[in-house]
Amino acid sequence: MDGIRIVGGAPLSGTIRVSGAKNAALPILCATLLSDGESLVRNVPRLRDIDTAAQLLRTLGRDVHAEPPQVRVGGGAVTPEAPYELVKQMRASVLVLGPLTARYGRARVSLPGGCQIGTRPIDQHLKGLEALGARIHLESGYVVAESGRLVGAEVVFDMPTVTGTENLMMAAALARGRSTLVNCAREPEVVEVARVLNKMGARVSGAGTDVIHVDGVDELAPFDHAIISDRIEAGTYMVAAAAAGGDVRIDNVPVEDLEALIAKLRGAGVILEPDGNGVRIVRRDGLRSVDVMTSPHPGFPTDMQAQFMVLMCLAEGTSRISETVFENRFMHVPELVRMGAEIEVQGHTAFVRHVQRLDGASVMATDLRASASLVIAGLVAHGETLVRRVYHLDRGYEHMEEKLAAVGARIERVRGVSP
Ligand code: EPU
Repeated sequence: MDGIRIVGGAPLSGTIRVSGAKNAALPILCATLLSDGESLVRNVPRLRDIDTAAQLLRTLGRDVHAEPPQVRVGGGAVTPEAPYELVKQMRASVLVLGPLTARYGRARVSLPGGCQIGTRPIDQHLKGLEALGARIHLESGYVVAESGRLVGAEVVFDMPTVTGTENLMMAAALARGRSTLVNCAREPEVVEVARVLNKMGARVSGAGTDVIHVDGVDELAPFDHAIISDRIEAGTYMVAAAAAGGDVRIDNVPVEDLEALIAKLRGAGVILEPDGNGVRIVRRDGLRSVDVMTSPHPGFPTDMQAQFMVLMCLAEGTSRISETVFENRFMHVPELVRMGAEIEVQGHTAFVRHVQRLDGASVMATDLRASASLVIAGLVAHGETLVRRVYHLDRGYEHMEEKLAAVGARIERVRGVSP
């Protein structure tokens, strides 16, 4: 198994280029199921999750040429079944449920089961599809959805759900009549999916607000689309640069989608200068602690919580970091504590006290964003850090070690590390 070895303490300098957004590419690849003919998705990041999505589309019967940054998905017959082996590797596989039900009148998708960051049910996806007329039952660990043509309806989500909103937009796009989705997720990736659906001939309005209207159409066309850049990858490198110090320019940053993070970084004393389509990050002085509470967009993203916590370990004072989106997203804390961090978790809140330094250690990644936080910790720690189970990192960061090495980090991938 691969690991990442880092010798900490090197300030960063140079430019890092952000790749396409994983969490936009995944639903958009699934949206290809809504039409026949060949779609072309560009600016797709080279990631394990993209490989899994390509494999899933192939299993469903589509012809896929995945050569990131381009992925071509052909039309063709579909066997509407997403098997457990793929869904367990990637929960986002549930994004085929809406398109398959709407387009083929049948879907059999494995339930994702538990995952590292909580139970993460999909009840809202199912409730929404039922409102549109699908009959849903559970069968040996699979969700089976059956329907004639879906019929537009009002769906009120109990909480904003990103993939739930995307699944329902995709399903409603082919339904008869108007659907109104209420209490929707407002993430930029939701807006991007709506943009693609409209390119395909759908009539979606309101994406980016909490009420989305979808006027169903009879059929949708294939599309050609370049994915927006990844705000979480951008944010991760912003925090890495702030933590390690130096002078870094990050290219392809969707600044307007990162306002909550940028405000907290500035509050902590980091200098951020928007610069064309990028951001320059400089840290000269010490860091100040700030409190953070995660919430759905446009709030502080849960996908940046672990990385930001590392920065707060180095900040003067005590920072209170509250996680409100997922119930179990502090798995990085014990690993950071092993590196010398002083963090106490009480319920949904972590109290992060300033420490003079972190020390390198052998640590284990537990999920994607936790892994990124351990890499950042390694960049600032004294001595050597070995981050194990890097396959989590490879799910969501394209060549992270190469991008960081190019700006002066002493970081390398090592093969054959014990898990
Ligand atoms: N929820 C339910 N029922 C549902 C759906 C969601 O109770 O039917 C709950 C979840 O358990 C969670 C909250 O609602 O407590 C929000 O979950 P959401 O559905 O928004 O999460 P998701 O769509 O499964 C996406 C991203 C995640 C990101 C979250 C929150 C994709 C493929 N994944 O997940 O990304 O953390 O939104 O922003 O878009 C990552 O990239 O590392 C990652 C985990």
